[in-house]
Amino acid sequence: MTPFVILSLLLVLFHSAVAQQNSTACDVQCSYEEDLQETNCDSRQFESIPIECSQSTYLSLRYNQIAEIEPGIFRDFLHLERLILSHNNIYQINANTFNGAYQLEVIDLTYNHIHTFNRDALNGTENLLSIDLGKNNLSSIEGGNFQLALNLKIIDLSSNHLTYLSPAVFQDLKSIKNIFLNNNKLVDLPENIFKDQSSLIYLDLANNFLSSLPRDIFKNLVQINILDLDANRLTAITFTLPTILSLKLRDNELKHLGNASIENWTGRVGNLYLEGNPWACNCSFEPFRSFRFRVSPYCDIRDNPVCASPLVLVNQSLKNVNQTCPLQNISSTTEVTNVGGRNGHISEHSRYSFFALVLPLGIVFYYLW
Ligand SMILES: *[C@@H]1O[C@H](CO)[C@@H](O)[C@H](O)[C@H]1NC(C)=O
Ligand SMILES: *[C@@H]1O[C@H](CO)[C@@H](O)[C@H](O)[C@H]1NC(C)=O
Ligand SMILES: *[C@@H]1O[C@H](CO)[C@@H](O)[C@H](O)[C@H]1NC(C)=O
Ligand SMILES: *[C@@H]1O[C@H](CO)[C@@H](O)[C@H](O)[C@H]1NC(C)=O
Ligand SMILES: *[C@@H]1O[C@H](CO)[C@@H](O)[C@H](O)[C@H]1NC(C)=O
Ligand SMILES: *[C@@H]1O[C@H](CO)[C@@H](O)[C@H](O)[C@H]1NC(C)=O
Ligand SMILES: *[C@@H]1O[C@H](CO)[C@@H](O)[C@H](O)[C@H]1NC(C)=O
Ligand SMILES: *[C@@H]1O[C@H](CO)[C@@H](O)[C@H](O)[C@H]1NC(C)=O
Ligand SMILES: *[C@@H]1O[C@H](CO)[C@@H](O)[C@H](O)[C@H]1NC(C)=O
Repeated sequence: MTPFVILSLLLVLFHSAVAQQNSTACDVQCSYEEDLQETNCDSRQFESIPIECSQSTYLSLRYNQIAEIEPGIFRDFLHLERLILSHNNIYQINANTFNGAYQLEVIDLTYNHIHTFNRDALNGTENLLSIDLGKNNLSSIEGGNFQLALNLKIIDLSSNHLTYLSPAVFQDLKSIKNIFLNNNKLVDLPENIFKDQSSLIYLDLANNFLSSLPRDIFKNLVQINILDLDANRLTAITFTLPTILSLKLRDNELKHLGNASIENWTGRVGNLYLEGNPWACNCSFEPFRSFRFRVSPYCDIRDNPVCASPLVLVNQSLKNVNQTCPLQNISSTTEVTNVGGRNGHISEHSRYSFFALVLPLGIVFYYLW
């Protein structure tokens, strides 16, 4: 054996001894799975990151009392891929917080009190795939925050207090697949906010205060499957849509879907969810109805929306209403069938629904008289 080989062997032995020593130190406080290099330090009342556990590929620190993370503290965590910091007291994320842990793929920061996320917080995390900042106290996100992690696939910003997003917040994130912005206080969104997101598959904007959206906001989302706009304040569909599998519009203030916008997306929307809107089943509703969503092979109303007006149709299922335009005149039997749609099929339904409405009314009136 050459002296070189002996030296190398000694070095290796020394190195593993040090590693052993370190992981043993980690084992004292946490449960360290040596084979998998997985460390569980949940519920240990820690106030700081246990640097003895720097061997970990997975480090879980749920339910501790960490309030601040010292920038650079992860510099020896050369193997760390998944870092779980949910349920702590973290209130801000400083610049370079994760710098050094360049293998990091997943950061979970849910259930903290984060109100500030520095624009250089993700410096040194080029391999990051997923960041979860849900259930925090963020009220705004500046542009550039995520641009140091250009491989991000998932960003979760749900359940914060976001009122404002910079137009550049997701800029250059060309491989992002899921964005969660639900349960915030967003009133409007900049037109260009999703312009680079041609790989986006799922966009959750539910439970915000959006009342209208810029016309071309979703234009570049050519791969989107699900767009969730439930529980907002939309009064009209002002935006165009690319091909989409599922569009959720429940619990908004929609009375009718404008004809122009419908032209631009019917037939390419798969499942449509429309409950909880004050649908006006009158003439304004005509473009919506006449496109015959219900029978369209491409567009299926999956829930059971009902009319809020006119009075005679309140609580009638939108799917069963065969209302034609102009609105049926209850006191004129002859007019009804004449205006009843463009083919005999629809006329028949009109006549049917006319009698369904008038007969019970007639009986009521007869008895009242
Ligand atoms: C062991 O821990 C010390 C600090 O406690 C650190 O300087 C050293 O790099 C660690 N060694 C390994 C192999 O992680
Ligand atoms: C959230 O941040 C606001 C200031 O932006 C502060 O007044 C409030 O106490 C914070 N809430 C929590 C739970 O940290
Ligand atoms: C980002 O980290 C590198 C070292 O990894 C450092 O040189 C650079 O100054 C950091 N950038 C900022 C803005 O802190
Ligand atoms: C719908 O189209 C009709 C004519 O095709 C037009 O008169 C009406 O203004 C349009 N309504 C909306 C909301 O665009
Ligand atoms: C619908 O699309 C056509 C052609 O693509 C366009 O001219 C029209 O302005 C669009 N309507 C709306 C409301 O976006
Ligand atoms: C339809 O009903 C809505 C809501 O009640 C109303 O704003 C609209 O003017 C009505 N349209 C027609 C043509 O009656
Ligand atoms: C419509 O349905 C709702 C909920 O089921 C009910 O509260 C309301 O009284 C109904 N209105 C009419 C006019 O039937
Ligand atoms: C219904 O039709 C009759 C006769 O055609 C007409 O006199 C009456 O004004 C119409 N009522 C309404 C609400 O349009
Ligand atoms: C409307 O038409 C459908 C068939 O297209 C029928 O099943 C339904 O009973 C009709 N509704 C009314 C109220 O006439």
